Amino acid sequence: MTGITPAQWVQKELLAGRCLQPVREQAKAYAPANIALSKYWGKREPDFNLPLTGSISISLADHGTHTQLQVIDKPEHEVYLNGARQGADTGFVRQVKAWLALFLPASISLRIDTRNTIPTAAGLASSASGYAALALACNDLCDWHLDYTSLSALARLGSGSASRSLWHGFVKWQAGEADNGHDSVAYALPARWPQLRVGILTVSSAVKAVSSREGMGRTVQTSGLFKQWPAQAKGDMAIIEQAIMDHDFTGLGQTAEQNAMSMHATMQAAWPPLVYWQPESVAAMHQVWGLRQQGVEVYLTMDAGPNLKLLFQAANTATLLQHFPTLEVIQPFPANHS
Ligand code: DP6
Repeated sequence: MTGITPAQWVQKELLAGRCLQPVREQAKAYAPANIALSKYWGKREPDFNLPLTGSISISLADHGTHTQLQVIDKPEHEVYLNGARQGADTGFVRQVKAWLALFLPASISLRIDTRNTIPTAAGLASSASGYAALALACNDLCDWHLDYTSLSALARLGSGSASRSLWHGFVKWQAGEADNGHDSVAYALPARWPQLRVGILTVSSAVKAVSSREGMGRTVQTSGLFKQWPAQAKGDMAIIEQAIMDHDFTGLGQTAEQNAMSMHATMQAAWPPLVYWQPESVAAMHQVWGLRQQGVEVYLTMDAGPNLKLLFQAANTATLLQHFPTLEVIQPFPANHS
C-alpha cells in the first residue's frame, strides 16, 4: 500500500542519518503497561500496525516491563522472559526478532532480558510495555537520541498498543493519516488524577487461545457489528478525553465500560465467534454491576482476555478490596510521577 516496507521507513526516515549499530555493550529501560480506556480494535494497515481510530489509555505506573540488552558474540539473538530462555520458534521470539531486524544488521546479536512486574497470569504482561521498553533500550544502546514521539512510532511497529506505553499517566494515540504511519504516534495528555485507581481482577489464568492481533483481524474481516465500531470509537474517545480534562469520573467510567463492552460485542459477532470471557469473568461483571446498584461507583473494562480491570476512586478502595480480596490496586499517579 505504501510502496515502502516498515524496515525501509525506519532506516531511511525515522533513523535517517543515525547509527544502526550498538555504540555500547549494554543498555536497559523500563516502560509501564497501559490499559486502554477507549480501545484500539482494528487496523487500517497491518504491516505498520496503523489503527482505524485513535485510542486513550492510562499507564500502570510501576507495573510494566524492565528490559536489558547485551551485545553477545553468538549467531542469534537470545530472548529471556522473566529469567527463562524462550525457544526460537515461539511467536514471541519471532516477533521480537522481526522488530529488531527493522534496523539492526543481521551480524549483531543481542541477549534480551525482559522482566514483567505485572502478574503474567493477569494476561497483562503485554507486548505494550515490552516493545516500549525495547524501543527505549535500543535508543540508548545505539545512541539515537530519538524523541518519545519517534520512539512511539517505533514501538508501534512491534505492537500497536506499545505506542502508548512510552509515558506515564493518560496517553492518547492519534490514528494519523499517512501511509507510512509517521503521524500515527501517541502523546501524553496534560492531566493528572491522583485519586484515580485501576484494579486488576484476575479471574482466570487460562492462556488466551487467540492473540489480540489475530482477534482484531478476524473481527474486521467477519463481524457485521464491526461496521459501527469506528464511529463509536471516535465518539467515545472524544468523551473520554473531555472527562479526563474535567475529572468527570462518571463520564470516564461509563464511557470506558461501554466502549469495552461494545468492542467485545464486535468480537462476539465475528466468525468463528470470539469470546474471551470465561464464566468467572461474567460472574465478576455481575458483581461490579451489583456494587454499582448499591451506590459504589466502580466501572469495568476488559481487553482480549478473561480478566477485568476496574476503574474507581481512592475513597472506594477499602470497599472494593472487601468484595474482591485478590484485587491488585494500582495508583496510576503516585507522588513521584509527573
Ligand atoms: C484489546 O496492541 O496487542 O488491548 O497491534 O496487533 O500488536 P497489535 O495488537 P495489540 O492490541 C491491543 C488490543 C486491546 C485494546 C487496546 O489496548 O487498545
